[in-house]
Amino acid sequence: MNQLNTSAGQEGSTKSLLIKNGLVGDHKSLHKSDILIKDGKIAQISTHISSEQLDCVIIDATDKYVLPGGIDVHTHFNIDVGLTRSCDDFYSGTQAAACGGTTSIIDHMGFGPKGCDLFHQLGVYKDYAKDQAAIDYSFHGVIQHIDSSILEQMKSMVEDEGISSFKLYLTYLYKLEDDAVFKALSQLKKVGALTTVHPENDATIALKREQLLNAGKTAPKYHAVSRPLECEAEAISRMINLAKLADDAPLYIVHLSNGLGLDYARMARANNQAVWVETCPQYLMLDERSYDRSDGLKFILSPPLRPKPETTKLWVGIIDGSIDTVATDHCAFTFGEQKQLGVDDFSQCPNGMPGVETRMPLLFSEGVMKGRIDIQRFVYLTSYKPAKLFGLYPQKGSIEVGADADLVIFDPHVQRVIRHDKLHDHCDYTPFEGISCQGWPEMTISRGAIVAQQGKFTGKAGYGRFMRRKPFSA
Ligand code: URP
Ligand code: ZN
Ligand code: ZN
Repeated sequence: MNQLNTSAGQEGSTKSLLIKNGLVGDHKSLHKSDILIKDGKIAQISTHISSEQLDCVIIDATDKYVLPGGIDVHTHFNIDVGLTRSCDDFYSGTQAAACGGTTSIIDHMGFGPKGCDLFHQLGVYKDYAKDQAAIDYSFHGVIQHIDSSILEQMKSMVEDEGISSFKLYLTYLYKLEDDAVFKALSQLKKVGALTTVHPENDATIALKREQLLNAGKTAPKYHAVSRPLECEAEAISRMINLAKLADDAPLYIVHLSNGLGLDYARMARANNQAVWVETCPQYLMLDERSYDRSDGLKFILSPPLRPKPETTKLWVGIIDGSIDTVATDHCAFTFGEQKQLGVDDFSQCPNGMPGVETRMPLLFSEGVMKGRIDIQRFVYLTSYKPAKLFGLYPQKGSIEVGADADLVIFDPHVQRVIRHDKLHDHCDYTPFEGISCQGWPEMTISRGAIVAQQGKFTGKAGYGRFMRRKPFSA
């Protein structure tokens, strides 16, 4: 395929595109079709669309998959974590996302000043993203404390601002106690928002961390020892029960890392409870042995990487439908400098790792090409279900006439080894270095503009639009 000039940025001048002969897949079906894109929208889908009368750029997608663009509902761009600020801003982060086949992100906003209202961080983050984002974006609200005005503001966040999901934390600086969690769940349900949760048992983590550090156990592997999977699973089961008590409030578990937590979610769902589960490529592909490497600091994140058998349990969840979404939790800190804060003490290492560019290729290669899941399930996990849960469907996450022309063309014949020097983030490593992928995104199209092609970013800072999301509905 030649380099095509239908650049993002010159809005209004973006030419129509005709994608020919692709294997067009969504969460339900896969068939050979042509797709015509006009004015940033999907205008026609048919087995044959003639280009004769059309003034358009033709893209030959023979033997390639044409899929809804990826939606990564868990990133942390430009986040201030106290110790330092993550090294990807909304430009480098969305550039990397676009090159990896992702056309929308929903970022988890960081904490604001103590006592700030719900709108504070939204204003800050809108400013961060406005002139930088190269693809469309939204934010999850962040709940740092609960009082009557916070509870009141939730309605306006959903109805006036289009923020229909919020994250609360059971650990970290602004962890919520059970009474606050209960109030948040109840009110968020009432105003049409989805509660997302970082579930880890803070008290046991604090205790274990103190014991380990007092014993001089400061190496990266003790980060994982300080927060075993039971800490996460306990908090998941607690959240599930609190959500049930809060009039069956809908609940979304972020970055699940282990099988026990998944079993609790399965049980709740078997009981018809409204619970959904997200995992990330690092929990499917990596395990706790990474902490024994000399560069173990690269892998410090929370929840931590788990024993190898947990990865298999998560793959079962990917296959049997008990995991709903694969996001990244992209929260990048450089190994050369930022991660070194933890060189003498794991608890001082900023938590998180990059991944926004490698999510789609890894799941495509390890999932689809290795025969674990079909294309439809791939689309379900990476685009359709994220769009459904977070109020973006069918404008995003679908291939239908009238939807935004957010597409990724995957070439299953390309074999590529992941190397950080070929990625587009501002970090200095990838945790997936050296992993071979069968299949790679050849082209990413955002609202009809080609924003990445053959590994090169062709988009523009500021092209991305803020997405006002619909209220939550199951
Ligand atoms: O270690 C992680 N995951 N850092 C990002 C913040 C979070 O908890 O999601
Ligand atoms: Zn988290
Ligand atoms: Zn996160």
